[in-house]
Amino acid sequence: MDATKEIARRRTFAIISHPDAGKTTLTEKLLLYGGAIHLAGSVKARRAARHATSDWMELEKERGISVTSSVLQFDYLGYRINLLDTPGHQDFSEDTYRTLVAADSAIMLLDNRKGVEEQTRKLFEVCKLRRIPIFTFVNKCDRAGENPLQLIDDVEKDLGIRCFPVTWPIHRGSEFLGVYDRIEGAVRLFEKGGDHGSKRAKVVEGGLDDPEVVGRLGEDVVAHVKEELELLDLAGSDFDRGDVLSGALSPTFFGSALTNFGVEPLLRHFLEDSPPPAPRESDEGIIGPDHDAFTGFVFKIQANMDPKHRDRIAFLRICSGRFEPGLQVRNTRSGDTVRLAQPQQFMARERQAVEEAWPGDVIGIHDRGALRIGDTLSSNGDLAFGGIPRFSPEHFARVMTGDPLRRKQLDTGLRQLSEEGAAQVFFEDIQAGHTPIVGAVGLLQFDVLVHRLEHEYGAKARLERMEYRHARWVEGPESDIRRVARGEGRLLVFDSKERPLILFTSEWGLRHAVDREEKLTFHAFAP
Ligand code: G4P
Repeated sequence: MDATKEIARRRTFAIISHPDAGKTTLTEKLLLYGGAIHLAGSVKARRAARHATSDWMELEKERGISVTSSVLQFDYLGYRINLLDTPGHQDFSEDTYRTLVAADSAIMLLDNRKGVEEQTRKLFEVCKLRRIPIFTFVNKCDRAGENPLQLIDDVEKDLGIRCFPVTWPIHRGSEFLGVYDRIEGAVRLFEKGGDHGSKRAKVVEGGLDDPEVVGRLGEDVVAHVKEELELLDLAGSDFDRGDVLSGALSPTFFGSALTNFGVEPLLRHFLEDSPPPAPRESDEGIIGPDHDAFTGFVFKIQANMDPKHRDRIAFLRICSGRFEPGLQVRNTRSGDTVRLAQPQQFMARERQAVEEAWPGDVIGIHDRGALRIGDTLSSNGDLAFGGIPRFSPEHFARVMTGDPLRRKQLDTGLRQLSEEGAAQVFFEDIQAGHTPIVGAVGLLQFDVLVHRLEHEYGAKARLERMEYRHARWVEGPESDIRRVARGEGRLLVFDSKERPLILFTSEWGLRHAVDREEKLTFHAFAP
C-alpha cells in the first residue's frame, strides 16, 4: 500500500455544535452519502436512547461502548473519512474538547434561527487555539430562520472569523428550493422525497440563467438571488485556501440535514478543501505524517463501567507510519514496550478488528491502566508529542468521604482518575489534609467519578456541589493572585501540579477580574 496515497486521502474531523442544532441528523446524512446506511440507523438509535433517559448507567448499557466519543469511518469519492464524535448533551465533558485535539479540521454546525450558541462557542475556542480549519454548515434552512447575510455577520463578529459562503440558500417565500454554489457557479435545486430524507436528495443542476433553472425558480427568485450574490461578491471575503487552512476563513454552507438539501455539496467541498493529516509538534521537532516510524498519541480513555469487565479502551490517533496488528511500540512517558495485538476501530456500536491503519486513523487499544491521556506511542525512538491541555472545568464539588477509614483509597482513586483525565482535582491549599475539590466540564463526569471511586477503589464518596461556574489558571505575583481571589464569589485553588486557579461564581466576576488585573494573566487552558 502506498503511504503517500493513503495519507493524502485521509480526512479526520469533528462536528462542533450546540445540542439540537442537528449534529446527529447531519452525521446520519454524511454516512448516507458515504454509503454506510446501516450505520446511519444506529446513530439514530443512540439519539433515541439519549432522549429517553438521563440516567448515565442506563445510557451506558443502552449504548455499549460509545457513551463518550467514538469514531465513524467511511469512504466517499475515494477519500477515507474519520468522523470523531463529540459528545454534546448530558455527556458533554472534557473528552469532547480532547477529541478536537485529535481532529485535523472541524465542521461547525449552526441552527439557522440560533446562530452561534454557548457550546459551539466553547468548542470553537479550542479549534481556534489549534488553528485548525473550520467549515460552517447553517442547518434547518427548510424552515424560516435569520436572514443569511445577518447570520454570517453575527458569526463573524461573535467568533472573530471571516466566512466565505460557498453555497447560498435559494428560497421562494419560506420554501427552501436549493443552493447556489459560488465556486462552481451552478445552482443545485433539490427535490424533496417522500422518504423523510432517508435517501439522497434528487438534484437539478444548472447556471442561474439556465432555462430549466429559471423555469423552476421563476424570474423574481432568480433576480433576488443575483442581487444577494452581487452583494456577497462586493462586501464579502474572497476565497483563499491558505486562509481556510490557517483557520482565518470559514467556508460556509447552507442546507437542511433533515431533507438532505445541501449536504452533498458540503461533504464534497469539505473533502476537497480540508487538509489531510497534519504534521504535529513533538519534542524532537515537527513530525510529518510521512515520518518513517509509527507514532501516535492517546487522546481519550474510555473506562468500562461494568465491574465484571475492568478493561479500558485507549483511543490512539495515529500521526505517522503504518499500523498493523502485532506492532511493537514504546510509551515515551513510562518507557514500557507495548505490543498492539488486537486494536479495534469503532463504528457506532460495532467494534472491528483493525488490519491496517494510517495517519489520521484512530485505533482503540485495550489497556489495563498503563496508558494516560497525552501519552505518545512510537515504534522507534523516544519522541513525545505536545501534551493535551487541561480545559477549565465548569462544575465543582467538594469530595466528602463516605467512610473515613478508607480515606487513603479515596485519595489514591482521585489521584489516578485525575491523571487519567476522568475529572480534575484541586485543593484549597497546597498542604495536604484539606477536602479535595473536583472539577468537571460536564456533570456526567461527576457521576462517572463517584461510580468509579466506589467500584474500582472501594471508596464511597459524596459530592457536595459548589456554586462556582468558571475557572482560570492564573499567572502573576502571588500577592496579587491572593488579593484578587479574596473577592466575593471567588476561591483560590491549586491543581495537582500546584498551579493556582481562581474559581468564579459568575461570568461577570471573571470578566471583571480579567479586565482590571493587568499584572495577572488568566488562562482557560493549562498546557
Ligand atoms: P443534535 O444531535 O445536534 O442534538 O440534533 P439532532 O440531530 O438530534 O436534531 C435535533 C432536532 O432538530 C430533531 O428534531 C431533528 O429532527 C431536527 N432537525 C435536524 N436537522 C433539521 C433540519 O435540517 N431541518 C429541520 N426542520 N429540523 C431538523 P426533534 O423533534 O428533536 O427529533 P425528531 O422527532 O425529528 O427525531
